[in-house]
Amino acid sequence: KNINEIIEQAVNTGRLTKTDVVTLLSSSGEDAAALFAAADGVRKSQMGDEVHLRGLIEFSNYCERNCTYCGLRSSHKDLARYRMEEEEILAVAAAAVPLGYRTVVLQSGEDSYYDAQTVASIVHRLKKELGLVITLSLGERNRDEYKLWKDAGADRYLLKHETADADLYAALHPDMTWERRRQSLLTLRELGYQVGSGCMVGLPGQTLNALAEDLLFLQALDVEMAGIGPFVPNPHTPLAKAEGGTVEMTLKMIAVARLLLPKAHLPATTALGSIDKQGRQKALTGGANVVMPNITPNRYRRMYEIYPNKICLDDNPAHCRNCIGGIIASLGRHVADGPGHSPKDCFSG
Ligand code: 5AD
Ligand code: SF4
Ligand code: FES
Repeated sequence: KNINEIIEQAVNTGRLTKTDVVTLLSSSGEDAAALFAAADGVRKSQMGDEVHLRGLIEFSNYCERNCTYCGLRSSHKDLARYRMEEEEILAVAAAAVPLGYRTVVLQSGEDSYYDAQTVASIVHRLKKELGLVITLSLGERNRDEYKLWKDAGADRYLLKHETADADLYAALHPDMTWERRRQSLLTLRELGYQVGSGCMVGLPGQTLNALAEDLLFLQALDVEMAGIGPFVPNPHTPLAKAEGGTVEMTLKMIAVARLLLPKAHLPATTALGSIDKQGRQKALTGGANVVMPNITPNRYRRMYEIYPNKICLDDNPAHCRNCIGGIIASLGRHVADGPGHSPKDCFSG
């Protein structure tokens, strides 16, 4: 089978063997261009020209975990830490409404300072007082907590699987297990969340085979959203000297994700925009249909430095909203005005 036959099969059936995924990820030049064009076509036919915006609130940079790649890891003692309280989170979200946001993503390190009741109250108020759609991204919590938040009105949960290679997962996460990660995702799915997961590209020791596993894992979980971004080595972590992921490989991963998950929301990630000025534009024309602009107040942004050279550190929410609007318009696309739920029947009611 040549590349074009593999692409055609993927477009027609949405199914690929691991070997075929590896072949697509190995493509370059004209072959890679054909992959991006096919992904752009599937994006257009399945998701249209709308781009969904999700306003990201990084409300606490405290983290109890010690992931070896991440600047927020607990061993990074020089990092100044901050937490936003409930009223401040509400105010930040309220300011996003006039900018046109319909969804906010509440993201933090794994920070048990926020007990289950507090999070439930924030979710409930964001829905009732502001009518927002709520995505939570707070890491691993137990089933009762996930359930409480769902009952409080949370719509979606974002928990990246990071890597589906169990040995690599273990090496990168001193205090976590792949099995618990997988279980958490299954629990979220069972509770009726729109589930987002995803991975990093270019982790040390990550093979093409492992990347293919990531995509097939996302497909098997049938995620409503998949965030795929490059690993960017952080000087304040044990992986300071590692090589990072490339723009090209990240784009190929997003494109194959679009072929395997035609109806999933795929963000053009901030990490990709941080290693390439045109990164988000390239993703949006190669399968992606979502952007998650930062709406964290300016004074906190520098402290949420998961990886170096993160974009928008000196920009405010209104500026980023304008910037993104310009990018989307320049591609001949438009910002969606609906809530941007998964197009699957069970979520579009
Ligand atoms: N480079 C890119 N992405 C990173 N993340 C954490 N550290 C890095 C890094 N060095 C991502 C992970 C995690 C989220 C908090 O940020 O995918 O899910
Ligand atoms: Fe904490 Fe998430 Fe960073 Fe791991 S990746 S250290 S859980 S913020
Ligand atoms: Fe923040 Fe462009 S999105 S400045």
